[in-house]
Amino acid sequence: MADTETASAESYKVNVPAPSRPFFLKGSDNLDWGMKNRLSNIFRPDSGRTVMLAFDHGYFLGPTTGLERVDLDIVPLTPFADTLMLTRGILRSCIPPTYTRGIVLRASGGPSILKELSDEQIAISIDEAVRLNAAALAVQVFIGGERETQSVHNMTRLVDMGNRHGIPTLGVTAVGTDMVRDARYMRLATRICAELGASYVKTYYVEDGFDTVTASCPVPIVIAGGKKLPEADALRLAHSAIQEGAAGVDMGRNIFQAESPLAMIQAIRKVVHEDFKPHEAHQYYQTLKREQPESPARPPV
Ligand code: 5RP
Repeated sequence: MADTETASAESYKVNVPAPSRPFFLKGSDNLDWGMKNRLSNIFRPDSGRTVMLAFDHGYFLGPTTGLERVDLDIVPLTPFADTLMLTRGILRSCIPPTYTRGIVLRASGGPSILKELSDEQIAISIDEAVRLNAAALAVQVFIGGERETQSVHNMTRLVDMGNRHGIPTLGVTAVGTDMVRDARYMRLATRICAELGASYVKTYYVEDGFDTVTASCPVPIVIAGGKKLPEADALRLAHSAIQEGAAGVDMGRNIFQAESPLAMIQAIRKVVHEDFKPHEAHQYYQTLKREQPESPARPPV
């Protein structure tokens, strides 16, 4: 018998049952430990929500407005994000490896803005995702698009690859410019992603019936910000989405194209994690903008 073994029954607390806690994310209770641990590095366990900072746009758009210098303009925002959504190229070239929150890697790509966008393929191997310590893999799904089946197949293959290694898959519903962005479409697209294995789904907020989109999707939904809006409107959009059941935002342009990106990401945090009302968040934004008028890494003009 090992000399450190305790003889007293009291130390084993035999009458105290081991706790059994449900996992904090919708539809995720039956996932394995690694998967849950990675999701906990994307969503905050205390609020159950996330502020994902999305700046993967260059994978088909090139150096779009606000992303010309990721090293100078985006890196200072990263401490305020719960997770980053980006390509492996930008991760390796611009993001300090001391960043310890979740990395959501863009895992599909191919066509540029000049071509048929739904013609994507898987753009990363699972070995590379493991090597980069990815918390999740993001894949575009074009429901109703020209290459709908191909994009769904990209997602299901990534789900299989990710599940083998405990890496969640984020299904990103990509809506063609000619398609109607209503709750009916969003219900269809998000539900297909979830049914076919996505751990969580990104979609767009719609004014009418967004709560039916979140209710009918069995896994968490995060919303993209979409085109740049006035800051007050973007905060209102985030607030409505959260109040109608979204588990967070995966926001890009409405943060990095804001007049003060640093103030904007902090205001968005208040909406997502502290249920700030839109006018409170906007006031907070304006105060921070006055106090922190420029991103600290921007060279003075
Ligand atoms: C690109 C993406 C973007 O990450 C997504 O659209 C979020 O960015 P934004 O808030 O600017 O819409 O998935 O396809």
